[in-house]
Amino acid sequence: MLETFPQREGSADLLRMEGVRKRFGATLALDGVDLSVRPGEVLALVGENGAGKSTLMKVLSGAHSPDEGRMWLGGAPYRPAHPLDARRSGVSMIYQELSLAMHLSVMENIVLGMEPVAGPFVKWAEVRRCAVAAMAQLGREDIRPETRVSRLSIAERQLVEIARAIAVGARVLVLDEPTSSLARDDIAHLFSLVRRLKEQGLGIIYISHFLEEVRALSDRFTVLRDGRSVGSGATADVSDEEIVKMMVGRSVEELYPRSARAAGEVVLEINGVAGRTKPEHASLTLRRGEVLGIAGLIGAGRTELLRTIFGLDPVRSGQIRVKAHSGPASPAQHWARGMGMVSEDRKSEGLALALSIADNITLSSLGRFVRPASQSSASRKWIERLAIRCREPEQPVGNLSGGNQQKVAIARLLEHGVDVLLLDEPTRGIDVGSKALIYRLIDTLAVEGKAVLIVSSYLPELLGVCDRIAVMRKGRLQPARPVGEIDEHQIMMEATATREAA
Ligand SMILES: Nc1ncnc2c1ncn2[C@@H]1O[C@H](COP(=O)(O)OP(=O)(O)OP(=O)(O)O)[C@@H](O)[C@H]1O
Ligand SMILES: [Mg+2]
Repeated sequence: MLETFPQREGSADLLRMEGVRKRFGATLALDGVDLSVRPGEVLALVGENGAGKSTLMKVLSGAHSPDEGRMWLGGAPYRPAHPLDARRSGVSMIYQELSLAMHLSVMENIVLGMEPVAGPFVKWAEVRRCAVAAMAQLGREDIRPETRVSRLSIAERQLVEIARAIAVGARVLVLDEPTSSLARDDIAHLFSLVRRLKEQGLGIIYISHFLEEVRALSDRFTVLRDGRSVGSGATADVSDEEIVKMMVGRSVEELYPRSARAAGEVVLEINGVAGRTKPEHASLTLRRGEVLGIAGLIGAGRTELLRTIFGLDPVRSGQIRVKAHSGPASPAQHWARGMGMVSEDRKSEGLALALSIADNITLSSLGRFVRPASQSSASRKWIERLAIRCREPEQPVGNLSGGNQQKVAIARLLEHGVDVLLLDEPTRGIDVGSKALIYRLIDTLAVEGKAVLIVSSYLPELLGVCDRIAVMRKGRLQPARPVGEIDEHQIMMEATATREAA
């Protein structure tokens, strides 16, 4: 049911959104946004945390209904009542938190909610054919239609979501920060897939905080700021600095500030530590005034290393010393001794989504008798220092945009005044302007004599903020080296080497 374009002359838009507004209580999330996508085009949708990107895409995919505004799809008015309605019309969204049914097979997921039926019976032969065709279109015939989704890797699950969109004849595909949990090779595969879909004439909207990705993939861009579209055009016509300036409203000069830091006493020392399965072997020392980075591939055991150090996972062998304390300790004991952690998975650990920003930031540090006044001033301080975009400190964390939730998790650690910080992918999902704030903060902490251990998959950031970097490879931590002595290429070689380097 593809219509031709009875739309205004000269316009070949596949999708058009005009004057879209959406309010959540006192928050005006979208304040009259315009956006258009042509067939065979990748549109990058960029903007600061809380600018309204996800909300706009939820309006497009039928998850939110707009308060005002109009949309056209293929030249015809478009107003989806719910996500399934949008999918039927050819608009599919791949959310960052994937939405597959884990206990069902690949093919069941692909047709879920839209199963071909004959009377009361599902036509399984047709379901299978449809799944095989969709996976073939993505070039992944090797993923069998009968496989349970729970057995697939994250990258493969994402492919199944895309296959599900293709199978119902998607014309517009939205990808919301799709690379944040993907390994390097999987990112390369995703990019070639996006290019392939674009050649098939789909309109693709791609949300990302990585300007490298915007540059590599998109034909055009649209910038949102404070719920408004403040700029759009051909990606080739603008510089990264210009895009950042549109996003932030000012230029970000120094992304990675680096003051003179003096390394002091050793506050964390681990020796030949092995965890439950990973790490297999890790040794490191961390001094006051130092920022130590841990690089490595996804799955190498970096998160497990931090969890083991912090007492979330058991130590199988080896020693961990935090300041004067050796031997096993619980996370609560570590907090009390001044070591804290921001975990990679902020949803399941770390944040209480139903509680307010103020509660999340202050509860662990103020004890049981919280005085509302001090709680409020403490949280206001962090809201300002980290530019947490919110209405008020009393707002539930669950209502914040993804990147702003991450900032609350960091604020909590800082408010608690720990002097040994374990940070697992601290800037995942965080916009460029806020990344600069966080890097500055890490630098300040180091100058103040705090010690920072940071795991990140984003190498420019590690090279920018760390004094030394150690690579984790298949559960084994390699010796740390000063940042001046290594580059991105060498880190990748070390992370992927199959044998010990000669
Ligand atoms: N369900 C909701 N209830 C209340 N406020 C909401 C809700 N969803 C979003 N908001 C608010 O709307 C604004 C836009 O949020 P949105 O998630 O669209 O931002 P975003 O651009 O996707 O940010 P990020 O880059 O951090 O993902 C934010 O101020 C957010 O707090
Ligand atoms: Mg978002």
